[in-house]
Amino acid sequence: MSTENRQKIIVANWKMYKTIGETAEFIKELIQELSEQSPSVYLAVPFTAIKTASDLAEGNDIVIGAQNMNDASEGAFTGEIAGRMLKDAGAKFVILGHSERRQIYKESNAFINRKVKRAIKDDLQAILCVGETLEEREEGTTQEILNKQITECLEGVDVSELNKIILAYEPIWAIGTGKTATPEMAEEAHQFCRQSLKNISNKETADSISILYGGSVKPDNAKGLMEQPDIDGLLVGGASLSLDSFFKIVNDSGSESKK
Ligand code: 13P
Repeated sequence: MSTENRQKIIVANWKMYKTIGETAEFIKELIQELSEQSPSVYLAVPFTAIKTASDLAEGNDIVIGAQNMNDASEGAFTGEIAGRMLKDAGAKFVILGHSERRQIYKESNAFINRKVKRAIKDDLQAILCVGETLEEREEGTTQEILNKQITECLEGVDVSELNKIILAYEPIWAIGTGKTATPEMAEEAHQFCRQSLKNISNKETADSISILYGGSVKPDNAKGLMEQPDIDGLLVGGASLSLDSFFKIVNDSGSESKK
């Protein structure tokens, strides 16, 4: 399998943490730490901090994005935000289908599919999250669930546009629990996800899509995960909130592309 062209990406998902001031302070310090050898660093910041973050990140190899968006381009949807508003504030990507959105706010694959299509229209790179619950893993339905999420969330997306997607495998039982999938378990799931992508496109396209792992990524397990051939990056929650632990993860993840 050719992995030459896949981008290595380390994404911070800050969830509902950090004010504008805290964001600015973090980014200024992060800029001092990064070097030309660092993998791509993406920060999914709160909506309110996107503009400040993207102004600071300009010209500094840090990509700023959001954690969610609505599927409509505008409308009477109190409290929602449109992709083009994110774009306007400086976002380059958006996380879609995170398990916290699926579980707490009951987002369905069909709704996430509409958001993915809207993000592509709005010229935002979509990080599509998939993952099984502990119950599903124990029942042996992990692959079925992953395949369903990937197929339904990407339904109707043209093969030529699939390269605008980044996939993130986040086993729900590993999120915020301190339980990480072992590198081997994660690699097995990533290989399966890539096969699923191949089934809806072709080998070349599937091989070019970066697949990230998320779920209790910490400085002490990042390297082992990144050594796996199908793990192209990491989606980091808790450990991305402190510059020290986030930078250790970035630093341990090797250089720019997956070779
Ligand atoms: P934790 O790294 O805190 O487990 O969160 C993972 C996650 O949800 C990233 O999107």
